[in-house]
Amino acid sequence: MPVNLSGRSLLKLLDFTPDEIRYLIDLSQDFKNLKRTGTPHRYLEGKNIVLLFQKTSTRTRCSFEVAGMDLGMGVTYLDPGSSQMGKKESIEDTARVLGRFYDGIEFRGFKQSDVEELAAKSGVPVWNGLTDEFHPTQMIADMLTVKENFPTGIKGLKFVFFGDLRNNMGNSLMVVCSKLGLHFVGCGPKDLKPEQWLIDECNKICEETGGSVEFTEDPQQAATDANVIYTDIWLSMGEPDELWAQRIKELSPYRVTKEIMGYADKDAIFMHCLPSFHDTNTTIGEEIAEKFGIKEMEVEDDVFEGKQSVVFDEAENRMHSIKAIMYATLK
Ligand code: CP
Ligand code: NVA
Repeated sequence: MPVNLSGRSLLKLLDFTPDEIRYLIDLSQDFKNLKRTGTPHRYLEGKNIVLLFQKTSTRTRCSFEVAGMDLGMGVTYLDPGSSQMGKKESIEDTARVLGRFYDGIEFRGFKQSDVEELAAKSGVPVWNGLTDEFHPTQMIADMLTVKENFPTGIKGLKFVFFGDLRNNMGNSLMVVCSKLGLHFVGCGPKDLKPEQWLIDECNKICEETGGSVEFTEDPQQAATDANVIYTDIWLSMGEPDELWAQRIKELSPYRVTKEIMGYADKDAIFMHCLPSFHDTNTTIGEEIAEKFGIKEMEVEDDVFEGKQSVVFDEAENRMHSIKAIMYATLK
């Protein structure tokens, strides 16, 4: 059956079929080719979108802005402090106002229920640009990146995520791997595992797709023969700084090192959604080094900068995939 995503919102990948997800990945590749060949693609001229951010961003915001402009749309950016939303106006009222002005709404915030409410009440497609629970637009870019590196097929690959397994990235990677039939391994402390309902849901999906979901606290076992090694920062946006000490203690055994990469398949790639604390060239990196005596957190600089690292291709792919998501849902 042909895929038609017109009018749909992208709130979490659990709501999408494997075919719909594959369609978005393929469409992202098409948009990447158009951009690379300098072929104009102002397919959504006359439409307008608004970007609502309750948290900070580099990649997601810039991807939506450039993608929107390349598609010929008008783009409004509302930063964490400059709208009434939440403080003086409910999400429901904001949704009903913005739905009258705009053809689509991007939202980055805290609660998944907020982005779901925006979609329910605005009457236009809403794209989740990250909540505490999920980061679905990142998944399309990530799977495009995996596909580029494993052109013979991504089904059956061993995909290992190290670190805080129950953050938005851990949750979302487990879902997308399940949907596309990859073998997902979450490697981190037991108390940072995703919620059981989500694991159960993914296991059910895997019965259909041939994928699998597994958790381990043993980094060597996890990394052995892996095709993709992925990690994310140890403290997500919105979590209190007081948690740094605990997270550093809990997650240091799960840092992605050259030794860990050595257990993986020889053609394995290293991925990270970014931003990353792989050196001390950031204010937080510097503060952590001073306070805790560590210069790298979730990944060693040698791995981040190494030849298996595809992190900047992955970042570029955010823009192509967000273009695909907007085009598919607004056309
Ligand atoms: N990966 C990602 O979402 O990056 P930003 O926080 O910079 O948008
Ligand atoms: N887990 C991270 C992802 C950033 C893209 C966060 O939520 O801050």
